[in-house]
Amino acid sequence: MNNLLLYWGGYCMPTSLQPVRGMRDLIGEEAQIFTTILGKARQTAECYGFCEVVVPHVESFELLSAKSGEEIRQRMFIFKDLGERQVALRPEFTASIARLVTTVLRNEPKPLRLFSSGTVYRYDEPQKGRYREFWQSNFELMGSSRPEADAEIVLLTNALMASLGLEGYVFKIGHIGVIRGILGQDGVDEKTQNAVLQKMDKKDYDAALELVDSEKSRSMLEGLITLKGNNWREIVNQMQIYVANYPIAKLAVENLGDILGLIAESGDLRVEVEPAFARGLEYYTGMIFEIYVPQLDIALGGGGRYDRLIEVFGGDATPAVGCAHGIDRVAIALQTQKAIGGKKVTKKVAVIPITEALKPQALRIAQQLRLAGVAVEFEVMGRKMVKALEYADKRKSDYAVIVGERELKDGTVMLKDLSSRQQNIIAIEKLAETITG
Ligand code: HAM
Repeated sequence: MNNLLLYWGGYCMPTSLQPVRGMRDLIGEEAQIFTTILGKARQTAECYGFCEVVVPHVESFELLSAKSGEEIRQRMFIFKDLGERQVALRPEFTASIARLVTTVLRNEPKPLRLFSSGTVYRYDEPQKGRYREFWQSNFELMGSSRPEADAEIVLLTNALMASLGLEGYVFKIGHIGVIRGILGQDGVDEKTQNAVLQKMDKKDYDAALELVDSEKSRSMLEGLITLKGNNWREIVNQMQIYVANYPIAKLAVENLGDILGLIAESGDLRVEVEPAFARGLEYYTGMIFEIYVPQLDIALGGGGRYDRLIEVFGGDATPAVGCAHGIDRVAIALQTQKAIGGKKVTKKVAVIPITEALKPQALRIAQQLRLAGVAVEFEVMGRKMVKALEYADKRKSDYAVIVGERELKDGTVMLKDLSSRQQNIIAIEKLAETITG
């Protein structure tokens, strides 16, 4: 019934005016927090030499599902367009950026540093911090297989979180090459490896182990599951001992050690190394990470190395590493920590002319204040002062500027502080200075 349309006078009226399940409207302060986070992400991109690219919301399903993994594949918004092409709403940016690097950017000098932001879509079960339409800021560094590229991606994420004033966040770090190296050497085929990693991502270790026929691999994984901690050197040393007879996994542990060493020496990060950590996306080949704050048990962002995706798309071998930050979740974390939630950037003022005739002068005063960086809501409803002040209170304005004839003759106005309720006569030329204080 909810989705039925009423036909009235030839027009179609929707009977449900709710947003589609899992999608949200962002209003006022909430929208402002998103703008602030996206602004900081863009600043971070600039500081780290990333070039912004804007890619379509809709791509071919085939492109989006190549190497994304079963979980993302099952949760895409897929549809046929009017030309019978099977397309989908993007569930992430990485596939679109890889498409660009395989085609129009193919001959650009490497490395390529590409930044994007916007909404992405996944048919997840809606709950706090989990939506079907959500925002990401996304960074991809293409063309380098060296550990400093991995370190840059982690460090820029740290810079973004720090610039927002987020506190107590921890980087969880692992390496997919260690797990794949072990399973591959023991003859576990790639399809089974993918299924094992999906289970490990969900921390369903029993189900993951059940999928592995090789007893050697099972006991190796059991060992890795017991290891984790914030002393990265110690964990890496223990991993080295575990994988001593697995040459490919051994190289992966060395690579993880190199990356962690660079991160530890160049930044002040809290790191938790978790060798049995896996992520839902299938394209990862190396270091993987996620960021958490103590107040939420969902990741604020994540990423990792994926060295073969461009080849899967038919491009030249291009090692790559990247990450995406969940803006909706970062906003929740900031609000929970009250980091930017209630902080106003500019003072807000209501300008109220007492009579109709004073409108031009009041508008001029409003303009002067705006030029001085004050946010002004001019009284456009022709209301009497009491009603206009009631509205200013509801709008949480800091001050009301009341423009009256008598004061104006002396080059002054009445400035009312809406929190203390005190009012003073102020010279118009001193008004902006008094408000911004
Ligand atoms: P991802 O871990 O799937 O990685 O998503 C990145 C972030 O998006 C998550 O850490 C989370 O903050 C946010 N997120 C994911 N699902 C939801 C949801 N349903 N509602 C709200 N927020 C959500 C990627 O997307 C990779 N493309 C990252 C990457 C780039 N790896 C390499 N390059």
